[in-house]
Amino acid sequence: MVKNDFRLADGAARIYEEQKVPALFGPLAVATVERMPPQDGDRILDLACGTGILARTLRQGASADTKITGADFNAGMLAMAAEVADPALGPIEWHEANVIDLPFADGAFNKLYCQQGFQYFPEEQAALREMHRVMELGGQLLMTIWRGDSALFEAVAQVLAEHFDQAMADKAMSPFRYGGRDSLIERIAAARFSDVLRDSLPMDKVIQNSHEAIELEITGSPVGADLTGVDTAHMQEIVAQCHAALDQYRQGNNLILRQTTDVYLATANA
Ligand SMILES: C[S@@+](CC[C@H](N)C(=O)[O-])C[C@H]1O[C@@H](n2cnc3c(N)ncnc32)[C@H](O)[C@@H]1O
Repeated sequence: MVKNDFRLADGAARIYEEQKVPALFGPLAVATVERMPPQDGDRILDLACGTGILARTLRQGASADTKITGADFNAGMLAMAAEVADPALGPIEWHEANVIDLPFADGAFNKLYCQQGFQYFPEEQAALREMHRVMELGGQLLMTIWRGDSALFEAVAQVLAEHFDQAMADKAMSPFRYGGRDSLIERIAAARFSDVLRDSLPMDKVIQNSHEAIELEITGSPVGADLTGVDTAHMQEIVAQCHAALDQYRQGNNLILRQTTDVYLATANA
């Protein structure tokens, strides 16, 4: 399976923060922090932090002596993260970095979270080795990776296939079609993690103002960069078709779309 990089068009980080974070990534961050809450004195890395919703959610529940760092290779996402973080809740350090070459010392962190980033990493074993390197022995890893069934992006993909081509449709679906699931537990263990566990977490994605929101969902995702030249009328037609295909999910003014994530927990060992 060819992986699609997570690169966004200019301005898409703000759309991501204003649309996707409240609709899904924010509630997912809350559920993730409940699975592995911060404790006094933790040194935490939020890897592939995007606009920093997980780091910010951790900061809210953490004491002053908990150190929180976010890292991502997308400068636009990090700029948005720094803009929206509330300094009154305590500091978060932001670093521009690729997962395969992290600018942190060996054993720098005792907790590492990676929310919906791993499926984009091109060299997974190198990424896991680097994640292990920056964790102290006994440190805890938590990763989430979507497990299919995005009704929203299935509808988007079908409409994009009709209007453009299958490659564009596949790109729209790629965040939800992680191809390495069958062997991932073994591969995490091979990178010197023990007690590797996987379970699933069902989430409801809530889309408000659905016409406007569907367009923002598309433009704030990696496929948005391929649609920057599309004129307004054409985009409206795409959105209207997606909207019609999603009618079965309507509850009042909202669309409620179930989306399940896998959750991986592991301990860094020697
Ligand atoms: C779907 S977003 C998730 C962002 C954030 N964790 C959240 O939950 O909102 C995926 C993120 O992975 C980052 N990413 C993808 N490949 C990366 C890499 N090789 N190194 C660092 N970050 C990467 C992207 O820049 C993007 O911000």
